Order: sequence, then C-alpha cells, then structure tokens
Amino acid sequence: MSAILKVHDLGISFGSNHVLKSINFELGEGEVLGVIGPNGAGKTVMLNILTGILKPTKGTIEFDGKEIGHEGVTERCRSGIGRTFQVPRPFEQMTVFENIMVGGVFGAGMSEAQAKEKALEVASLIKLDDKLDLFAGKLGLLDRKRLEIGRALATEPKIVLLDEVGGGLTESEVGLIINLVKDIQKQGVSVIWIEHIIRTMLEGTNRVMLLADGVDVITGPPLEVMNSAEVKKVYMGGGDDE
Ligand SMILES: Nc1ncnc2c1ncn2[C@@H]1O[C@H](COP(=O)(O)OP(=O)(O)O)[C@@H](O)[C@H]1O
Ligand SMILES: [Mg+2]
Repeated sequence: MSAILKVHDLGISFGSNHVLKSINFELGEGEVLGVIGPNGAGKTVMLNILTGILKPTKGTIEFDGKEIGHEGVTERCRSGIGRTFQVPRPFEQMTVFENIMVGGVFGAGMSEAQAKEKALEVASLIKLDDKLDLFAGKLGLLDRKRLEIGRALATEPKIVLLDEVGGGLTESEVGLIINLVKDIQKQGVSVIWIEHIIRTMLEGTNRVMLLADGVDVITGPPLEVMNSAEVKKVYMGGGDDE
C-alpha cells in the first residue's frame, strides 16, 4: 500500500492548551481511514491543519509525494485535498447545482464548463440529481450532508476529509452515507472519516485510528481497534479490569 498522505509528529497548542502533542499516521491510496476520539480530542483541529486553515506548532505533512506544510488553503485544495465541515454550511439561497458548482469553480479553479460537467457527475454520485434546482436551504439533513460531501467532491480531490457527516442521521440514513463513502472510494479517492458512530467505523473503513490525549493512541483494523483496551479505556475509563 503506497501512502498518499504521511503525517509525522504533528502538534499544535493554543496557548497552554496542548491539543495535539504528536500525531503520526499514513493514509494509503484508495484507503478509508476512520478517526475516533472523545469530544475536544482535536479531530477537527487535525483536519483544519491538513487543509491549511490552522498552522501546526510542529510536524510535517507529505501529500502525494511532497511536503505541503508551507502551502495555503487554496493551493492545497487545488492539489487535491477536499473537506467537509462538521456543521454543513451550504449557501441556502443557491440551488443544489450552484452549490456544487462553487466547489469546482472557486475551490478547484475550474472553468465554468468543466465545473458544470463535474457538478452533474457529482450530483449523480451523491444522489441529488433529481433535486438540482432546489434551494439548498430547503433540503433535509441527509440531503444537506450529501451536498456537503458533494461540494468537497466537486473540487476533484485525491483525498477527502469527512468531519462527522453521519451525525444526527437515522440508522437507515447512516447506511446510505456508508454506501456513499464506499462509492467515493471506488472512484479511487482516499478518505479520512471522523465519526462517533461505531457502525460507520466497522462497516465503512479499512482502518481506524483513535485520537486521544493529543496522540494517535492506536491504529489498526476496525474491529481490532474498536474492541481494544485502549478504546475501552478512553470511552469508559476502564480497560484492564475485565
Ligand atoms: N482556533 C482555535 N483556537 C483555540 N482553540 C481551539 C481552536 N480550535 C479548536 N480549539 C480547541 O481545540 C480543542 C479540540 O477541538 P476540536 O478539534 O474541535 O475537537 P474534536 O475532537 O471534538 O473535533 C478544543 O479544546 C478546542 O477548544
Ligand atoms: Mg470535531
């Protein structure tokens, strides 16, 4: 498995709050890596560092064979890092189609014609092709999540970073999101998927990383990690005492 992303000794502090102390992991080409960890562990902060929104205090990020630590948000997006936001924020007064177009035109710098073609392809993948002319503000939660993912995909990313896209959905809707992520993976896109829902990690990822106390505590096969003493300890304050 060759790696599309290599993160080495990544750390960030906000004043005396040492949120990430040392994060180390690799994302394989075409892999879905799940990330779990308690609230406030720094999962979203890690995505913000990867996309260039936040500057790390230390560490290196190698993407697609080159060090990108010095690159800004736009440059990283154009070279193939797409992301969703934990709270979906579509442009409510714009249609579904226009929202997806924004990703291609402003995120990836495509021509309008290119972005249109890409948007149609993405709309079909996220199953919003029958709602292209609806205002985004009218969408239900599942469709808002789909649109959020679609906006990231419209930039034609090599890797896409998903921040709790399954949150707030019903059991069957979560199943649809798992299938969508599998479809994204089939297109050759690698995925980092932060989620609290255990089922998404077991059914939708190739490996899972536990992020807690500022470090990557354990990374491995989903079932192994979810059943690990480390995960039990972090989530239940136990682990050695069965
Ligand atoms: N821009 C920021 N400035 C200062 N502190 C921040 C900033 N972003 C996040 N934090 C802090 O970093 C910690 C981790 O937050 P976050 O990454 O959102 O956690 P989660 O793992 O739940 O996604 C929290 O204590 C949060 O208050
Ligand atoms: Mg978060």
